[in-house]
Amino acid sequence: LSQESQDMLSAHEWLTKLYHHLLRFTKEGKEGYAYLKERGIDEEAADAFQLGFSPNADQFTAEFLKKKGYHEQLLVKAGLLQINESGQTSDRFRGRIIFPIRNHLGKTVAFGGRAVGDYKPKYINSPESELFHKGKLLYNFDLAKRYIRKENEAVLLEGQMDVIAAYQAGVRNAVATLGTALTEFQAKLLKRYVNTVIICYDGDRAGLDAAYKAAVLLQQCGCEVRVAYLEPDMDPDSFIRTHGGQAFKDEVIKASDTFMTFYMRFLKKDYQLNLEADRIEYVEAVLKRLAMVDSPIEREYYLKELSNEFEISMDALQDEISGYREKIG
Ligand code: UTP
Ligand code: MN
Ligand code: MN
Ligand code: MN
Ligand code: MN
Repeated sequence: LSQESQDMLSAHEWLTKLYHHLLRFTKEGKEGYAYLKERGIDEEAADAFQLGFSPNADQFTAEFLKKKGYHEQLLVKAGLLQINESGQTSDRFRGRIIFPIRNHLGKTVAFGGRAVGDYKPKYINSPESELFHKGKLLYNFDLAKRYIRKENEAVLLEGQMDVIAAYQAGVRNAVATLGTALTEFQAKLLKRYVNTVIICYDGDRAGLDAAYKAAVLLQQCGCEVRVAYLEPDMDPDSFIRTHGGQAFKDEVIKASDTFMTFYMRFLKKDYQLNLEADRIEYVEAVLKRLAMVDSPIEREYYLKELSNEFEISMDALQDEISGYREKIG
């Protein structure tokens, strides 16, 4: 590690401790702590995730770190300070709740900062730096790793609040992509640890589309994929807040769909299934995908589903799918 990277790391370490202390024990952090409490985050979780608060002052972080001997230039490079058009620096995360983003070794390499309340942008993240490559880490991987190994299963979520809510519900093998598309690097990382990845993204359109892309990528990397269902207005955090942790475990995570079942549901958005022509096209599209499934038992299982739902004979479906399978070879 270069000297510069080491300095960036230690600056993040100082700030993680400082912000956490401010949140937990000082009046500067009260507003942030009250907000988290209201959202159901308890002290134990706030400590486990080292949640913090960055005071709403332009130069607070800058002055703290400069006093410790850090150069302004380094702090800009690390993304802790931002520069305006006239070249002035200011605290990037001022007035925000701080989520330290740790690498696989548990070292803070970046921060996510959430507005207290309904301000835009809702979250600000550290920019990419020598320390932080967003596409190469998963939020909470360092803590989740041993549970991921033990259970041979990982739960993949969108955001920090989802991971923390899951943690409080006793789901300790959860990690998050922090709102960006899952990368091949992250998929391969998960594959090294688990057989099965359960995707539980937000129930909205964006979450559904992202879940599909993540599912395909994970499958290509050799993972067994399952996808959990949430109503369109829910994410894991709001589900847990509304229905409780036990319901999340039993009705969402355990009840997650296989990739194929998810795909059959996902694909329906492209068709008007009250129209005969669309029904036929939909069935054909599903069969094309199903043809790639190697296990005859699995194929038969989903063919039966189709057969029942669309009142098409198994013979006809078998006929059609063997055509597609020959093409794949
Ligand atoms: P969401 O919009 O689903 O936010 O974005 P959330 O996780 O449910 O957050 P709360 O519950 O409103 O607090 C998912 C993730 O995308 C990233 C964050 O990491 C967030 O957790 N994101 C979102 C950003 O980086 N910037 C944004 O402005 C919004
Ligand atoms: Mn690099
Ligand atoms: Mn979302
Ligand atoms: Mn969300
Ligand atoms: Mn949310």
